[in-house]
Amino acid sequence: MTRDNVVPVVQLHRVTKVYHAGQNRTTAAHRIWFHGPASTLHLLLGPSGSGKTTLLALMAGFLRPTTGRVLLFGRDIAHCSEEERQRMRAGKIGFVFQSFRLISPLTVGQNVEQVLRFGRVPRGERLKRVRQTLQDLSIEHLSERFPETLSQGEKQRVAIARAIVHEPSLVLADEPTANLESRQGAEVIELLQEYARNKGACVVVASHDLRLEPRADSVYWIEDGTLRAVGSHQRKKQTRLTMVEGQSAIVQCFQQNRKPRVQRGS
Ligand SMILES: Nc1ncnc2c1ncn2[C@@H]1O[C@H](COP(=O)(O)OP(=O)(O)OP(=O)(O)O)[C@@H](O)[C@H]1O
Ligand SMILES: [Mg+2]
Repeated sequence: MTRDNVVPVVQLHRVTKVYHAGQNRTTAAHRIWFHGPASTLHLLLGPSGSGKTTLLALMAGFLRPTTGRVLLFGRDIAHCSEEERQRMRAGKIGFVFQSFRLISPLTVGQNVEQVLRFGRVPRGERLKRVRQTLQDLSIEHLSERFPETLSQGEKQRVAIARAIVHEPSLVLADEPTANLESRQGAEVIELLQEYARNKGACVVVASHDLRLEPRADSVYWIEDGTLRAVGSHQRKKQTRLTMVEGQSAIVQCFQQNRKPRVQRGS
């Protein structure tokens, strides 16, 4: 067993992130603890502005915490050079951006291939992996198209393909089903779940989409930058009733736009 299999993929130790904009201070992450082992899918649910994107950006090392520590593959990213962080992001992390961030002058195939170029994967292997990933997401027919000719749902799937084509150990997906209809959304989350299992990866999904909940190993509620575990797959068997209560409480809170009362640690 390699060290990567033993050490959690991502850990947050009491992480706080405060944004300063003019006179305003916003605490987007407040004393967050998070443990993301290999082969698991975590779901972060929370209303708009609650801190989901901030949390994923902290996990990816795009943002530095104001206080606390972010550990990627067991290493405190504060102790890594910018070059090491870039190498880690290019090789081991896949990020699905909420706004896709596809590169307009490149075709779909080239967008997905780009990350393999950074990783210096030989051309034949690059083309094979791109084709396979586009097939897995049922978008191989879009390979020669340019991003501006795609629907929102198609762009979303291209963004997911680009995030997993290099087989990263950590996939951070920001609202990956927001623009997909119900069946497509279910397929995408199933694919991410299989990805986590088959590749031994940790997948963290931020979403408003409650339909994703049954697929997650752990479910968290985030509000005003505070993260709380509300259920974990491992405990479902022993606490079936508790989970059902927890789920219905979250559903009600979404419907009534208020804070859930179910707040359990993992
Ligand atoms: N660069 C920034 N400067 C100042 N404040 C910011 C910045 N980025 C985010 N914020 C604030 O931090 C809080 C959390 O924002 P974040 O984007 O993480 O929320 P979110 O849960 O992803 O929201 P949404 O569901 O709308 O995408 C919000 O109040 C937001 O206004
Ligand atoms: Mg967001």
